[in-house]
Amino acid sequence: MERNGPSRTAIGTAVHRAAHLVLDEDPKIFVDPFARAFAGYASDAEMLQAIVSVEMIEFPRMRAVFNVRSRYAEDELDSAITRGIDQYVILGAGLDSFAYRRCDLVASLNVFEVDHPASQAWKRARVAELGIAAPTHLHHISIDFEHQTLAEGFAESIVDFGKPVFLSLLGVTQYLTIDATVRMLCDVATTTAPGSELVFQFVQPPATLARDEAALVTAFAERNGAAGEPWLSYSSRRRWNATFLLPASAESCISARRKRRNATCEAVVTGCACRPTFP
Ligand SMILES: C[S@@+](CC[C@H](N)C(=O)[O-])C[C@H]1O[C@@H](n2cnc3c(N)ncnc32)[C@H](O)[C@@H]1O
Repeated sequence: MERNGPSRTAIGTAVHRAAHLVLDEDPKIFVDPFARAFAGYASDAEMLQAIVSVEMIEFPRMRAVFNVRSRYAEDELDSAITRGIDQYVILGAGLDSFAYRRCDLVASLNVFEVDHPASQAWKRARVAELGIAAPTHLHHISIDFEHQTLAEGFAESIVDFGKPVFLSLLGVTQYLTIDATVRMLCDVATTTAPGSELVFQFVQPPATLARDEAALVTAFAERNGAAGEPWLSYSSRRRWNATFLLPASAESCISARRKRRNATCEAVVTGCACRPTFP
């Protein structure tokens, strides 16, 4: 990703989270009251107007996907916190508002928003423009995942990688080359302490999907490419199993364990949670 300004795709996923609050019935899957404002809209009416003027791709279905994946990650985080984890690293945070929403948790949880420098600078300026103060336990780390390691990015940070951390990586891997994703996941496994947990999501190659799902994935890839954020890779559960579970592989630094999966996510983009484990 080589650009200045906001991540259009991060704005897009935030709009889906915001629209969920306005368009979908209770009970909500995920409640993100900051999403609309972070995405740049002053009112629900303005946002809904923008949504109808752009031809959204399968809007209700994708609204479910984007809200479910965030909910899934935060449910896993809740369990991790009960196990004593007190550090949350959000890789490719985009307009994630966890640190602003969960004041109840951030007093005892350090949150690290990690993102491409351009996306992060835009979000920080937007939050400041809204007059919202960044919580004291929120830390910003700029990393270009194609070119920098976690250790480099976190060099000046107060993170304690000697203790377990919880990490999420949602809606990011398709914007990275497969080499960068593999490097980053190995990086996570070798940098973090035993007991750490990563929830990540990836997009399967269209050729492996049912026709309607393949069309959906292809449409998203084309739209995001046209918006300046091309999809650089797809991957599959088989790929991750092969990469991380082969004991003799030089890359076998993570062992991926599939956990419960959400059916809505599974329909379009495969959601899975992987816990790095260590020899
Ligand atoms: C679709 S958004 C997802 C944002 C958020 N995780 C969510 O679920 O709403 C993709 C994110 O990946 C980040 N990203 C893409 N390429 C990147 C790179 N090379 N290095 C760091 N971040 C990158 C973008 O800045 C953006 O925040």
